[in-house]
Amino acid sequence: MEAKHLIDLDQLSPGELDEIIRLAQKIHSNPSAYMDRCHGRIMATLFYEPSTRTQMSFQTAMLRLGGQIIGFDNPSNSSVSKGESLQDTVRIVSGYADILVIRNPLEGSAYAASLYSRCPVINAGDGGHLHPTQTLTDVVTLSMELGRLDHLTIGLCGDMKNGRTVHSLIKCLSKYPGNRFVMISTPELRIPEYIEDVLRESGCTYEFRDTLEEAIGELDVLYMTRIQGERFASRAEYERQKGVYILDTQRLKLAKPTLKILHPLPRVDEIEQEVDYDPRAKYFEQAEYGMYARMALILKMIGQKYPPAKKIENEQGGHCTNPRCVTQSEGYLPKLYCEHGDVKECRYCNAKI
Ligand code: NCD
Repeated sequence: MEAKHLIDLDQLSPGELDEIIRLAQKIHSNPSAYMDRCHGRIMATLFYEPSTRTQMSFQTAMLRLGGQIIGFDNPSNSSVSKGESLQDTVRIVSGYADILVIRNPLEGSAYAASLYSRCPVINAGDGGHLHPTQTLTDVVTLSMELGRLDHLTIGLCGDMKNGRTVHSLIKCLSKYPGNRFVMISTPELRIPEYIEDVLRESGCTYEFRDTLEEAIGELDVLYMTRIQGERFASRAEYERQKGVYILDTQRLKLAKPTLKILHPLPRVDEIEQEVDYDPRAKYFEQAEYGMYARMALILKMIGQKYPPAKKIENEQGGHCTNPRCVTQSEGYLPKLYCEHGDVKECRYCNAKI
């Protein structure tokens, strides 16, 4: 794999992504053939935010490959509670481990970590920004359950604004021909501007809908998401948004018999438990495919060791004002930008500058 780190799935060529999907399928069909592939290797999981599936599936993936694991899932048990910077934690742990998996509530934090890491960094969710390995999980699931990633009508429902899984999934599936996106949310929770730019530039058709009922009958895939309570400015704002979209067996009657229902989980109230028994519900299988997807990714990425970080200078005009960007709290980070057409974006969080 060419990329040194996996911050965004964009870093993989379509061929590389396809290779990972195929490897995940091979591991799924014969896991014992891979049980020693990471013997003697160590993976560090640095989880500054709660997680069940992502953290445990990464850890199980490494253990099933014969490797070992270190890390924290509660930063208050580490020197982070004494004020240690992200940079220092990453410099230290990347000297101990062969691969580093990081989840942090700040947007752009995984990219920031990659600037200082001596081993490959995998982004396991950076605030409301991106979550590439969930997308890997989702595309492995679609490949296994539908056999293709193109010419699909994909409904995405819930919190399109704060849901990082949705952002990464749209970025990925908009590269495949013939896909159509139907985004079902309240006007307040629509996708961020930079994701709409991606859709517009991809040439895929996309539309916004207000209700699940008006869209569900057209869909090949329904990707439900929870309203991300922890990312709202106030509890009152969250209360206004929650509970609007609920998938139940009644609404499911309007859907195609071949529909696949996905959800990154955890669910709150957006899928009634009775739906779990419908053969179209694939979210529990999806969580299991995630382990095979992560085994494949670890195998593709592990083994590199990088020299200590060199100092990076600020780029003129790279100052980001997004309050959720990692550059706001980790003040030593160089100010960097990238260009998207004639628009400047923060290199860490993609907010417009
Ligand atoms: C998602 C996440 O953390 O972004 N969960 C996951 O990784 N499976 C979705 C969510 O928390 O809603």
